[in-house]
Amino acid sequence: MHFHNGNSCCRPASKAWLITGVAGFIGSNLLERLLKLNQHVVGLDNFATGYQHNLDEVQSLVTPEQWARFTFIEGDIRILEHCQQACKGVNYVLHQAALGSVPRSLNDPITTNAANITGFLNMLVAARDAGVKSFTYAASSSTYGDHPVLPKVEENIGKPLSPYAVTKYVNELYAEVFARSYGFKAVGLRYFNVFGRRQDPSGAYAAVIPKWTAAMVRGEDVFINGDGETSRDFCFIENAVQANLLAATAEDSAKNEVYNVAVGDRTTLNDLFYALKSALAENGVVYDKAPVYRDFRPGDVRHSQADIGKAASQLGYAPEYRVQDGIAKAMPWYLEH
Ligand SMILES: NC(=O)c1ccc[n+]([C@@H]2O[C@H](COP(=O)([O-])OP(=O)(O)OC[C@H]3O[C@@H](n4cnc5c(N)ncnc54)[C@H](O)[C@@H]3O)[C@@H](O)[C@H]2O)c1
Repeated sequence: MHFHNGNSCCRPASKAWLITGVAGFIGSNLLERLLKLNQHVVGLDNFATGYQHNLDEVQSLVTPEQWARFTFIEGDIRILEHCQQACKGVNYVLHQAALGSVPRSLNDPITTNAANITGFLNMLVAARDAGVKSFTYAASSSTYGDHPVLPKVEENIGKPLSPYAVTKYVNELYAEVFARSYGFKAVGLRYFNVFGRRQDPSGAYAAVIPKWTAAMVRGEDVFINGDGETSRDFCFIENAVQANLLAATAEDSAKNEVYNVAVGDRTTLNDLFYALKSALAENGVVYDKAPVYRDFRPGDVRHSQADIGKAASQLGYAPEYRVQDGIAKAMPWYLEH
C-alpha cells in the first residue's frame, strides 16, 4: 500500500490503524482522513487534553459506514495493558498521545514525564510485541533546543530548554534503541507548531494561533511574549496529516529516522498577529486593538524554521499549505467555534 500526497491519495485496501491521542487536535484530524479513506481505525485516549466533541465532529464529517469502522478505547498510555489492548490486530500505529505545552511541563514536569516518557515506552513495547508494520510517532521541533542555526536540519540539535523538550528527545532515543536492540523501526515526525481546526483555543496551555484568534473574536487583548520577533515555522494540519500517512507506509529504509514536518517558512509573532487580524477582517470581524507586549516566556526557543529536505526526499513529503493558506482555511472553523 502506498499513500500519495494529501488529497491526491489513492484508495488503499482497508487496514487497521491505531491512533493514540485520537480525541486531540492532530489525532482527530488523522482519524477524519483515515475514515474518509475507508480505513479501519482504533483510537485510544484518556481525555486528558482531548475532547469527546472532537470525536463527535469527526462523526458528523464522515458517512455512517465510515464511522462504523472506528473503535474507540478510553484508556491511558501510562498503563501497559491499555496499550496492549489497543495494539491488537493493528498494522500501523500513529502515536500522538502526550501532554503538549512547554509551560505545562515547567509547571508539572512529573505528569508530563509520565505521559510522554512512560506512556511512550509502554506504546513501543506494546507495538513491538503486537508485531505492527510501522510505528509513527509525534516528535517535536522543541528537540532543537538552543541550537542557533537556521533552518533546522535533523542531525543538528542543541540542549533542551524545557522538560517537554526532554521528553520528546527521550522518545527519539528510545525509538533508536528499539531499532538497534529489537530491529523495531519507528519514524519520528518533528512537528513545528501545527495549527488548524479542532486545536483547543481554551486554557492556559493553548497554542498561539487558536488562543489569539479566540481573543480577537471576543475583542480581548492579545498578548505577545517578548518583542514579537520570535519566529516559528507554522504548519497547517493537512501537511502534518500527509506526513503521517507517508511515514506510516514508507519503505523500510525511511524507518528508524526522524523528519521535520513544517513548511520551511519563518513567521514572526508580529507577522502572525497581522495575518490573523486580516484573515478575520476577510470574514467580517474587525479587531482594532494593538497587541500587548509582555516578558519573554521561559523555555521558549527564539527562532524556529525547518529544512524539510529530508522528509521531501525520503518520504515524498510536499506540504500543500503555507501559513496564510492554512489560516484562511482554518478561520471559518474558529469563527464557528
Ligand atoms: N500541535 C503542535 O504544534 C505540536 C508540535 C510538536 C509536537 N506535537 C505533539 O503532537 C502530539 C499531538 O498533539 P496535539 O497538538 O494534537 O495535542 P492535543 O492535546 O490536542 O492531543 C493530545 C491527545 O493525547 C491525549 N492524551 C494525553 N495523555 C494521555 C494518556 N496518558 N493516555 C491517553 N491519551 C492521552 C489527550 O487527551 C489528547 O487527546 C503530541 O504528542 C504533541 O506533543 C504537537
